[in-house]
Amino acid sequence: MKIAIASDHGGTNLRAEIIGLLKELTLSYEDFGCECDSSVDYPDYALPLAKRVAKGEFDRGILICGTGIGMSIAANKVKGVRCALVHDVFSAKATRQHNDTNVLAMGERVIGPGLAIEIVRTWLDEEFEGGRHAGRIGKISAYEDQEA
Ligand code: RB5
Repeated sequence: MKIAIASDHGGTNLRAEIIGLLKELTLSYEDFGCECDSSVDYPDYALPLAKRVAKGEFDRGILICGTGIGMSIAANKVKGVRCALVHDVFSAKATRQHNDTNVLAMGERVIGPGLAIEIVRTWLDEEFEGGRHAGRIGKISAYEDQEA
């Protein structure tokens, strides 16, 4: 599994923790930054990552900002991206099983690294259940096609 990860200045510490986990799991990843001491704009990091996931260059993406909200809003503007803002393990599991999310957003100012690592482990492990959920995702894809 190939993973892309990025954060703004509000998520650099948690991004480093998650990269540590990816290394521990020996997963292939690319770090999209930011290399920032000062304030940057989260869409500048969310959109390039989301586009590369949508193109199929990465299987999954992980985005971190202060709240995770800006990153998730931006990523979900990219056709083919299903990004979930997750701060609990139950939702991490459900959003893979039901929504087949390909991008995960979290907020460094919202949760601690221990919980974030459990969320990422769960989200990477869980499979999409398909069935009735596939039909629902299909409706979102059809809407995206109609808008394009
Ligand atoms: C940056 O201050 C903050 O707004 C950003 O990290 C994020 O929380 C936006 O949604």
